[in-house]
Amino acid sequence: MSLIKLENVSVYFQNEKNPRERVGALVGMNLEIEPGEIIAVVGESGCGKTTLGKVITDIYQPTEGRLLYKGKDVRELDKREYREYRLGVQMIHQDSYAALNPNRTIFQSLSLPLLQHKMVKNRQQAWDRLVELFTEIGLTPPEQFLEKYPHQLSGGQRQRILLARALSVKPSLIVADEPVSMVDVSLRISLLDLMARANKKYGISFVYITHDLGTARYIAHHGRIAVMYLGRMVELNQIQAALDRPAHPYFHALISAVPEADPTLRNGRMASLPLKSFDMPSVTNAPPGCKFHPRCPYAEAVCEREEPRLREFEGGLVACHLVEKIRANAPPRD
Ligand SMILES: Nc1ncnc2c1ncn2[C@@H]1O[C@H](COP(=O)(O)OP(=O)(O)O)[C@@H](O)[C@H]1O
Ligand SMILES: [Mg+2]
Repeated sequence: MSLIKLENVSVYFQNEKNPRERVGALVGMNLEIEPGEIIAVVGESGCGKTTLGKVITDIYQPTEGRLLYKGKDVRELDKREYREYRLGVQMIHQDSYAALNPNRTIFQSLSLPLLQHKMVKNRQQAWDRLVELFTEIGLTPPEQFLEKYPHQLSGGQRQRILLARALSVKPSLIVADEPVSMVDVSLRISLLDLMARANKKYGISFVYITHDLGTARYIAHHGRIAVMYLGRMVELNQIQAALDRPAHPYFHALISAVPEADPTLRNGRMASLPLKSFDMPSVTNAPPGCKFHPRCPYAEAVCEREEPRLREFEGGLVACHLVEKIRANAPPRD
């Protein structure tokens, strides 16, 4: 049974400029997250990644559709089950400074959930548990970090602390929302390694949200990738297969736009796919039909008219009317 399942989930917000209008931050999303897997969620800013993360962690509730935890609608969980879900599904936010109370020491902040949920008996036990955890993730000497306030730490250290906070309650899933985007480049890999290790050692599933394909591939090289565009999932597949042979023209364009300087990612043989327009429409002015059609070099009349459904293609899922045709006409590689 999947750990988390989104069933046709949409999240609409009121348009700030025009309150009578609704904005689809997430539209018709279906996704199952299995125990122990890593899924990378990629897409440009504003495509709904954070909204998706907040739905999975019940910070936002779906306007339409359902969220299931271990097969049960989250809205129908009893008090004990809901508590298990909230502890079991943790989120690491992008802005580590905003995520920590500036007036509390790290120990005060991190011991709170442990005590509240009776995962430890007293402050001493909380201290011991956090010392152990901090040592494990390289925040040493741990005593020093526990006594500090958030502003006394670097961005990279605060992200490690958020990871420690998420791990401290022994979750089965962690949603990490761009956890390294505000971290110094030199420290990114070590943070990604820590998450990969937590996945391996404890079997914790990860939803790794990013706009950066390089880190997505790094952490999820055996996992899956979900590609989002204007609130919709447009492609879902094993990450290796998807990067080798992207199906959706948008994903193809994303990959082929990665500079050659990133040899881990850029597939030298892949022809670049120039887009018709570099203006990213926003969800407030989403076009009719396929949301990608104004930028798509292959778009035909049907793309302007009908929104494509996500369907099976080459072992993955893709939302594109023309994918077979594009594949058939693609210049042979090699
Ligand atoms: N609380 C909110 N109120 C109104 N609009 C929102 C809210 N949260 C997100 N949005 C809008 O929903 C869209 C998707 O946002 P978000 O999920 O943050 O995207 P991403 O994380 O991919 O950058 C954006 O257009 C954003 O402006
Ligand atoms: Mg975001």
